Amino acid sequence: MTSQIKFLMCPPDHYDVDYVINPWMEGNIHKSSQDRAVEQWQKLHQIIKEHAVVDLVPPEKGWPDMVFSANAGLVLDDTVVLSRFLHKERQGEEPYFNQWFEKNGYTVHELPKDLPFEGAGDALLDREGRWLWAGYGFRSELDSHPYLAKWLDIEVLSLRLIDERFYHLDTCFCPLANGYLLYYPPAFDSYSNRLIEMRVAPEKRIVVAEPDAVNFACNAVNIDRIVIMNKASEGLKTRLGDVGFQVIETPLTEFLKAGGAAKCLTLRVTEPLIEERHANIPLESRVIQLEGHLLDAGLINRALDLIVDNGGSFQVLNFNLGEQRQSTSAAEVRVSAPSHELMEEIISQLIDLGAVDLPQDERDAKLEPVIQNGVAPDDFYVTTIYPTEVRINGQWVRVQNQRMDGAIAISQTPEGLIARCKILRDVEVGEQVVVDVQGIRTIRKPESREHRNQQEFSFMSAGVSSERRVELIVEQVAWELRKIRDAAGKVVVTAGPVVIHTGGGEHLARLIREGYIQGLLGGNAIAVHDIEQSMMGTSLGVDMKRGVAVRGGHRHHLKTINTVRRYGNIAKAVEAGVIKSGVMYECVQQNVPFVLAGSIRDDGPLPDTQMDLIKAQAEYAELLKGTEMILMLSSMLHSIGVGNMTPAGVKMVCVDINPAVVTKLSDRGSIESMGVVTDVGLFLSLLIQQLDKLTSPYTQVG
Ligand code: ARG
Repeated sequence: MTSQIKFLMCPPDHYDVDYVINPWMEGNIHKSSQDRAVEQWQKLHQIIKEHAVVDLVPPEKGWPDMVFSANAGLVLDDTVVLSRFLHKERQGEEPYFNQWFEKNGYTVHELPKDLPFEGAGDALLDREGRWLWAGYGFRSELDSHPYLAKWLDIEVLSLRLIDERFYHLDTCFCPLANGYLLYYPPAFDSYSNRLIEMRVAPEKRIVVAEPDAVNFACNAVNIDRIVIMNKASEGLKTRLGDVGFQVIETPLTEFLKAGGAAKCLTLRVTEPLIEERHANIPLESRVIQLEGHLLDAGLINRALDLIVDNGGSFQVLNFNLGEQRQSTSAAEVRVSAPSHELMEEIISQLIDLGAVDLPQDERDAKLEPVIQNGVAPDDFYVTTIYPTEVRINGQWVRVQNQRMDGAIAISQTPEGLIARCKILRDVEVGEQVVVDVQGIRTIRKPESREHRNQQEFSFMSAGVSSERRVELIVEQVAWELRKIRDAAGKVVVTAGPVVIHTGGGEHLARLIREGYIQGLLGGNAIAVHDIEQSMMGTSLGVDMKRGVAVRGGHRHHLKTINTVRRYGNIAKAVEAGVIKSGVMYECVQQNVPFVLAGSIRDDGPLPDTQMDLIKAQAEYAELLKGTEMILMLSSMLHSIGVGNMTPAGVKMVCVDINPAVVTKLSDRGSIESMGVVTDVGLFLSLLIQQLDKLTSPYTQVG
């Protein structure tokens, strides 16, 4: 029976490492010994001949990698898909392999030009013939996979390779008889690993560790119970032996220098047909359109990178380069992804960059009804901070109340259809929710080069500060505060108790008094500490003037709360003259609204603290309406909460001594947000000095 199995090999007459197209070849140019290569190849040839028939394709001078006949093409029954090599160094092998296939009666399919696919190096049949595993990421293009499915009439499962040492699927993956699989999981992305785990039962997976993997243990030739490879550890041999396989080792070190071993040196040309096969591939493709300063603003790079980083692939169909500095470019890009799930992930990120799904005038957003209050349909589109439009009945409708992490709810009103961003708990039966990722676009301000340089808030977005940067940012913030105050705009502060500990209380109080702040958000603590300081001169028991703990100081904190409770609330305590200064005092005096959101650890709390968090979130959102700038002062929770409610376009300045907090907020990625890693008390005092300087330009800042 085994005699019917046939392999194609190519003698190593012209084999050498002549160039570098994979990491193994690096440093190995002309370092392989011709004699040893011939000897190793002959041994392998001999072993395989004991178990199967071997045919030879004549080697060609000038094509040193032709020994790796696995890359000739992919064979199933009498059909072959010829390889299209990615690198020109190997493209010259194609006609020779083609000749051999044609001479031997195969039906040869050729892929379109510029669609690389490297044959059985990147496509491996399940040994039961149930499906084809196809690799992509380095040599073969994802878009070649649908051709394989069609021509070979088989289900194709795409696996993404992510470790360049394992650039071909057969370097890290080897289906074995009886449904076993020998493989090296870290060579694949997590999605691919999940796919493998879904298809191959745990007891059938033979995971190879790195030391075996780099010896090309997965690059094995399997004939029934026999597994032929360069080298295997004792552990691996035992593991394979336990499930009935016999390992035959044969050194192929000279070929490892070119990045290949046993499997690469062979091509099985008798792959039996299985009866009930059918073409099937979960791969999806869509065409998107991107417009803007694609080059200047780096948009096109970001778009293409995110496609690849998420396991997709792309083809730029059209690129209209804006020729003048001010003109925009437009690109049409075909995006492919190995599954619907990944496609949605990719498209939603592209939408964030301002991409539109094509053909845009034929695609309405997909809607599904809400069938349970407070629960959205499974596949709901998750909103971002960017102004968004959805296409309904051929019309682009602007989404109201833009915020991130919401759903888009559509409802019918007497004035017509409206689309609103809603947090999940607020969606209601009777509304429709946008699902999937089509018919959605975000409106991005064109970020041109000039724009980015001029926009005061953008030049150091998303970075971390050095000292000079702190100064620069303070200057900008001061300038911005002045502008907004002069135009009767709105600035909101979120503040944590650290503002008081670090001595920033008096500065913040002054900002409020002088009309720079139109709203204050925080928790119970900022208010208690501030009032404690005003009433007793301490903050959580620490003397603010001397910086030392006062005996029994913690009682100050509780007494403060008790006093405010006695008067009913903060405003009443201010009126009664009990609170005479500080942040909360100024809020009351200046009629600046504040919301204090409670938490599990609050002492008291103050009567003003909203302990119902759902209400607190709603009050925060209400107070934030119409805000142009938010100063986030050392309060991670309140700042992140606020960040989530705030659409793009609102300037956010996040000040925290902990870089992680700053980074977290800058991760929103909007150009208007920036982070400053510094002491918040210091920041506020610099800010006040800067504002003074702006008010009286002749005063020197001391
Ligand atoms: N030097 C060859 C290349 O980089 C090695 C090919 C190994 N073949 C394989 N099926 N993995 O293309």
